[in-house]
Amino acid sequence: MMIRNLVVKCHRLGPVTFKVGFNFVRFSSNSHTYISKPNTRVRKVKTKEEIANELFERQLKSDNRLIRWGAIARSDKFRKGMTKYLIGLYVIFLIYGGSFMKELYGKEKELETIQAKETTGNINEYEQLRMKSMTGKLRTRDKLKLEKYEEMKKEGKDNFDGVELDGEEYEINNKNKHILPARDTTEFYEGKAVDYDKEVNFEERMIFMGRRRKWLMRHCKGDVLEVSCGTGRNIKYLDPSQVHSITYIDSSKNMIELSQEKFKERFPKFANAAFVVGKAEDLLNLASRNDEESKTVKYDTIVESFGLCSHEDPVKALKNFAKLLKPGGRIVLLEHGRGEYDFINKALDDRAEKRLETWGCRWNLDIGELLDDSGLDIVDESRTHLGTTWCIVAKKKGDSKSKEEIGFYEKYVSSGVQSKLETASNSSKHQQTK
Ligand SMILES: C[S@@+](CC[C@H](N)C(=O)[O-])C[C@H]1O[C@@H](n2cnc3c(N)ncnc32)[C@H](O)[C@@H]1O
Repeated sequence: MMIRNLVVKCHRLGPVTFKVGFNFVRFSSNSHTYISKPNTRVRKVKTKEEIANELFERQLKSDNRLIRWGAIARSDKFRKGMTKYLIGLYVIFLIYGGSFMKELYGKEKELETIQAKETTGNINEYEQLRMKSMTGKLRTRDKLKLEKYEEMKKEGKDNFDGVELDGEEYEINNKNKHILPARDTTEFYEGKAVDYDKEVNFEERMIFMGRRRKWLMRHCKGDVLEVSCGTGRNIKYLDPSQVHSITYIDSSKNMIELSQEKFKERFPKFANAAFVVGKAEDLLNLASRNDEESKTVKYDTIVESFGLCSHEDPVKALKNFAKLLKPGGRIVLLEHGRGEYDFINKALDDRAEKRLETWGCRWNLDIGELLDDSGLDIVDESRTHLGTTWCIVAKKKGDSKSKEEIGFYEKYVSSGVQSKLETASNSSKHQQTK
């Protein structure tokens, strides 16, 4: 500080030392007036606050990102901004929370109305679809039907009692001309057997299919049936300690022989294994003894991987699986079919013919539609590879879920509305398939 003719009055001060220029000048309170020399530099002793401010300014310009960010977070500007930000978030939360609660309330009211109607008579197809949409379980066919109903609503129709849309018109598997008609693929796989593993290995490795096969085989316990076992690509994932017996079935003799070889090599001591040449569509005949229902062989687990796409009648096959399940038994499927995005479905459709020629399968089937038509209850459903790989655990209608199958969300978090919806949509599905 440049000071000219600085006059310091020190009435009440005791002896005080000021730094003047580079010298220390001492004066006492007895001297009432001090006149400095002109052009003398005086550096005032810094207060704690000033030192802290200087440090803060230095930290704001620091090269070290952590120090700089720390300083920014302590700055007034940031704190004020943060307050605004938090208030903004709170407002968004209130708006979102409000609309969520409103939606939930709306659902509850709609559900109550549908349920009340259900006790007096049959609910109509539109209401069944509404219930499904509330649980987020609409299949493609359902979506198309619901869209049609919404269109009709816009045109002024508001009561759909007695209205049922023509199912066939909305069936993807029949309507889409790129989904080729089903056929008997036995001959094809008889010829493919020798090269099958070699040709499929690379493709499967690229998409980590081993993990999915492992997932599939983890479910095997008790008496197990593997349908369309092919060359036995799932055998290496089988844990025989969980299995009492295992039956393999495939329509191609050449394919199943390779399975048998692999099994013997891997589990030479496991005696309770059978290998049957036959079709999934004929399973009931194959499993029945003297046509007596009570003597029909039943299973705890029925698994199938990539079989539905090559069956002549996949829905019949699935219905057969349900009939061969023991109480509490499960059907576990690893299948491929239509995906979740239009672009991938287009790619599957465009190459459907080529695929059938080289692999004998219809890879663009809507697996969800097959499952719905089979009347099975889905316990767990997940999809990978853009939705084209379907991992399904299903049970017979009426069987209850085990403790492990009721997920954490369903058990502790899901609202009362959600569980009511589950129950209601299950009971309406029941009505539909009767
Ligand atoms: C794509 S391969 C899948 C083989 C094996 N499951 C896998 O994951 O690699 C389809 C298999 O299904 C068999 N298959 C086709 N139609 C069948 C039917 N109707 N009943 C039983 N098996 C069938 C074929 O012989 C072939 O082995």
